[in-house]
Formats: sequence, C-alpha cells, structure tokens
Amino acid sequence: MDKPGANQMWGGRFSAGPDAIMEAINASIGFDKRLAPQDITGSRAHAAMLSATGIITPEDAAEIDRGLAQVLTEIEAGDFAFSAALEDIHMNVEHRLREIIGAPAGRLHTARSRNDQVALDFRLWVRDQCDAAIQGLDALMRAFLAQAEAGADWIMPGFTHLQTAQPVTWGHHMLAYVEMFARDKSRFQDARRRMNECPLGAAALAGTSFPIDRHMTAQALGFDRPTANSLDTTADRDFALEFLSAAAICAMHLSRFAEELVIWSSAQFRFVRMSDRFSTGSSIMPQKRNPDAAELLRAKTGRILGATVALFTVMKGLPLTYSKDMQEDKEQVFDAADNLLLGLAAMEGMVSDLTANRAALEAAASSGFSTATDLADWLVRALNLPFREAHHVTGALVKLAEDKGCDLPDLSLEEMQKTHGEITKAVYSVLGVQNSVASRTSYGGTAPDNVRAQIARWKEVLG
Ligand code: ARG
Repeated sequence: MDKPGANQMWGGRFSAGPDAIMEAINASIGFDKRLAPQDITGSRAHAAMLSATGIITPEDAAEIDRGLAQVLTEIEAGDFAFSAALEDIHMNVEHRLREIIGAPAGRLHTARSRNDQVALDFRLWVRDQCDAAIQGLDALMRAFLAQAEAGADWIMPGFTHLQTAQPVTWGHHMLAYVEMFARDKSRFQDARRRMNECPLGAAALAGTSFPIDRHMTAQALGFDRPTANSLDTTADRDFALEFLSAAAICAMHLSRFAEELVIWSSAQFRFVRMSDRFSTGSSIMPQKRNPDAAELLRAKTGRILGATVALFTVMKGLPLTYSKDMQEDKEQVFDAADNLLLGLAAMEGMVSDLTANRAALEAAASSGFSTATDLADWLVRALNLPFREAHHVTGALVKLAEDKGCDLPDLSLEEMQKTHGEITKAVYSVLGVQNSVASRTSYGGTAPDNVRAQIARWKEVLG
C-alpha cells in the first residue's frame, strides 16, 4: 500500500510522495561527490583569502581549514555519510564542517555562492582530466613510435576505399597515428590554457561587495588569472564543451585504429596478431581470437560523442546566468572522461603488444597491381607521355596481367611493348614494391628514409 500523499503513478518507487520525487530529481550528490577533493581545495583557498583580506578572523579561518582537512580525510577513507537531503557536494561538505567545528563553519560561505563554487570545482576537475588525457596521449604516441621504429621500411598495402592503392611502409602508417594523436594532445593543451581562469569570486552572478582578493585565490589554485566577467563565469560551461569536443575527436581517432585492428587481425588479412592480453576466446569456436578490446574502443566513440551532443543541447538555449539545467553537465563529462582515459590506456596496451606479420603485409602489398601508378609515372618520365595517356597504357597492361593471372612485374618486355612500343626493360626497376616505396621521397611521403627522419623528429619531441 502506498503511503498517503504518495504519487499514484510512481508510488512504488517514490513511496514517500512528492517530496521524495523532488529530492530525487534535484539532488546531484549521487554523482557530484566525485568533486569532493576539488570542492575542499577550493574552500580552503577561499577561507585563506577571506582571512588575508580581513573578512574573517585568522582564528576562524584556521578552524575552517582544520575542519575541511578532516572532512577530506573522512571522504577519502570512505567514512562519510553523503545525504541526498543536502542536495549536493557543496552542502554536504559544509554541513559536516559545521558538525566538526561549529559556528565558524557559517563564515566559509561569505562572498561566495554555489554558482561560482560549482564552476570552480568542475573547472578544476576538467583541468585535471586534460592533464590525464595529455599524459595518456604521450604514452600512446610512444607506443606507435616504437612500432614505427621496428618496421620503418616494412612494406604494406596502402588503401583507399579499402582497396589496395599503393604500397606504403608500416612505419609511415604508424606515424600517421602519431600525427593524429599529437593534434589531439594540442587540442587538450589549448582547452586547458583557455579554461585556466579562476571562477571563484564571481559569487551568485554579479560579484560581491566584500573586499575579496580574486588574484590571491586564482594563484593559490594554479590559475593564470581570475575570470573577468562574473555573469560569463557563472553561466558558461564552454570549458567542458571544449574538453568533450577534444575527447570526441580523440575517440574518433582511437576508433579508426581500433577498426584497422579488427580488420587486420582477421584470418582473411592476418596483418597483425593481437596479444593474448587483448584478445578473448570464443566459448564454442576454439580457433577464434576476438579483438574485443578494439571493438569496445570503437564503440566508446558513440558515448563520448553522445556526451558532447548532450551537453551542447543542455546549454544551447539557456539565458544568462546559472540555471539548474547546468547540473546535468557533470555526468556526461565524468562518463566521457572515464571512457576516454580507459580507451587511451587500452589502446596503448594493444599497440605496445601488437605483432605485425611482415611477410603477410608485404605479400598483400605485392598483389592488386599496387605499383600501377609507378608504371604510369615511369611512362611520363622516361617516354615523356602525357599523364592521361600513360594512365591509359597502364590500364591496358593491368588488364593484360589480370587476364593472365599474374602481377605487373611478371609481364614480359615483349608483352609490354605490344601495348606501347617504346617501353624498355628499365621499366622493371620501378615495378617492385620496394622500388615503389623507396621512390616516394617527396616531403611527407612513405619512403623509408623519410620515415626514419620523421621517427628521429618524433623521438626528440616525445623524449
Ligand atoms: N548542484 C548544483 C550544480 O551542480 C550546484 C549549484 C547550485 N546552484 C544553485 N543556484 N542552485 O549545478
């Protein structure tokens, strides 16, 4: 039986009635307790500033600091009773502070509001996540670099449309990802730089009449400066959106290599072997080595991009300044950050453990007429044909080889000359895959010498 006053529809779930429903929708403590360390760090800096500016006494500030340190210890020890009735982390901490130190606790919230407090806590948290993502990316880039170094001149097929296009080197392919992840890293660095302004002191929305020193708190908390507009400070979450955007792009890059791992590790490709640590068996098919971690990484892009879209949608129509809608920012960012960092670590593990099958890579590169472009280029260089005509002659030779069931270097000189009389045996020097990649010396091209130069550059950058 529902209690009197309970909502008829939801009574089973919220048997205490409307108050319980309101508490359930309003409280954020279930998730924002993750901000406890940031909340306490921010409050300690605020109290020290209130004392330095004479707004509260040094004695009260010392009590507040001692009490907050104890609250942190209790939370870290798992000894803290979080209460939904107290709504959020800010009120939970302050309530416990009052139990510990009594009346002086009431002075902590002078010249402050939960609006600048939450903006601060969340910014500190997101800033830490930028640092963690940057670290994860550094480790991941090193793993790709080690792969590049091991196989700088190994031949593999390069693809367009997942069709064999031209031979490339394994080292070049690995370094392509180093480039992508380096840009991801710089996006997190940029975002961090822009978000590194301290919200504390914006108060509810308009600033405060107390003689606070915002520069002091900004400095104590590792910010470059205080934010310059109190309305902007309490209303905006673009720092979180920048983090999410960078995370979404990075997750997309992770997903692309994850997809390549799925394809490459298949029995049809056999380009790579994933380590046991990152493969799973099938309960019924003993031959299977499933690339589960790569597949999950591919899928996680969806939730990280989803979080990004969700927060954009929360923010897009809000009038200045704070609205409670903004409480919905945290879970999205928490989930995206957790999954991004896990994904970076998993990818680093997979790449470090990966064994490339050099013979299978080279064999695949040699099939599919991957040196047809080299042949066309030779016709232009050696016989001075216009490229369009060279393309046409090459097409005829590819067709001939296809009909014969052989590769381009297997055609005899006579056969070639039937297609174009001026072809000489010098043409064979460009037809092998080794020759093909060695000739791609244009800046940024796949020639092993280029790749080795890029490896040296990246070694310097990554230390
Ligand atoms: N729990 C709130 C949030 O996460 C804290 C800020 C509350 N401010 C307010 N004016 N109700 O956004």
